[in-house]
Amino acid sequence: MNTVVQQVLDRSIETVDDLKGKRVLLRIDVNTSLGDNGVVDPGEDWRIVKAYQTIDYLVNHGACVVVLSHIGRNPDDSLKPIYDYMSEYRTIGFIPTYDSTILETSITGMQHGSVLMLENVRQHPGEEVNDSSFLNTVIELCDYYVNDAFSVSHREHASVSDVATRLPAYFGLQFCDEVKNLTKTREANENTVLLLGGAKFDTKFDLLNQFLPKVSYALVGGALANVFLRERGINIGASFADDAVDISSMVTNDKIVLPIDAVDQHGDVIHIDQVGDEDMILDIGPETEQLFETIIAHADTILWNGPMGKYEDGYTAGSIAVADSIAKSDAYSVTGGGDTATVILEEHLEENFDFISTGGGAMLDFLVEGTLPGIDVIINK
Ligand code: 3PG
Repeated sequence: MNTVVQQVLDRSIETVDDLKGKRVLLRIDVNTSLGDNGVVDPGEDWRIVKAYQTIDYLVNHGACVVVLSHIGRNPDDSLKPIYDYMSEYRTIGFIPTYDSTILETSITGMQHGSVLMLENVRQHPGEEVNDSSFLNTVIELCDYYVNDAFSVSHREHASVSDVATRLPAYFGLQFCDEVKNLTKTREANENTVLLLGGAKFDTKFDLLNQFLPKVSYALVGGALANVFLRERGINIGASFADDAVDISSMVTNDKIVLPIDAVDQHGDVIHIDQVGDEDMILDIGPETEQLFETIIAHADTILWNGPMGKYEDGYTAGSIAVADSIAKSDAYSVTGGGDTATVILEEHLEENFDFISTGGGAMLDFLVEGTLPGIDVIINK
């Protein structure tokens, strides 16, 4: 077995014999976008639901669980709406302050099997500069640290990294699942199809670069495809194209399959050669959906990240079509990234996917690197 997976499994929380009465500092990622009413939309609760697995495990083993998470990127954002939502599932306390006296009283008073959630760790400047001193009181009172926040473990933040150096540190159940499934996906071969969409290359460029020699095809949709179309001499009109990367080394690679038709700003289907100077490519068209479906049907493994169209503006048909194609196929299917997961969950197709990663950037980084800073800090202790 790949050494990183083995090392992660060796540090699974399941390897700790006696958790009864032990205080466990658990980092989860329940970062969830809230509706206009400021509450969790049940259709968006997938990260919260996944977090229950390790919380339940710890509670059932009699541990006292102190939960850390972030929400959003604004230090004013509060976890209170997430706490309210989680409270409907289980009894849980919330401490809206990092005041050391209040923390000490609350944590020392915890009963076996109880759960206390602390406020958004990003309210503290120490979090993002990897300085866990704002957690001193909590760390002193806890016996173990458990990281079950795979989706933020590409960040060297205090609650992911520094804190892991200060307590005996383990991985949560969901974290272990992520590493097992994504490591299997890294072993891509000639029967693997990579499907990439979305607007920005970011780490997707490194992923494409690394996977292209191994996979049978890379199907590219979303605004990512516009960069390739333009480099191949096709007019993309007024469409968005991420100029941040140089794709010249792969532009003629015939494993890269691009859209042959598109949906424009009027909702009309146009052939890819017919895009006018004023037109915007906003989704893949039906012929492309068919082409992608044929290729997907022949794959043994499918890795999908990123929507096929401007999903947030209602250009959803292409993403729904590829989700259906993958759901119908017998291939081992892995997907991740917020928008991609949303498509699958809104279409109720989750049972037809083998693994839906909670990670966006973390999933891409792990697929490229085979590890993450939040993993290294624990396995290299
Ligand atoms: C995510 O939403 O991908 C994770 O919660 C990490 O959030 P971040 O990109 O704001 O660090």
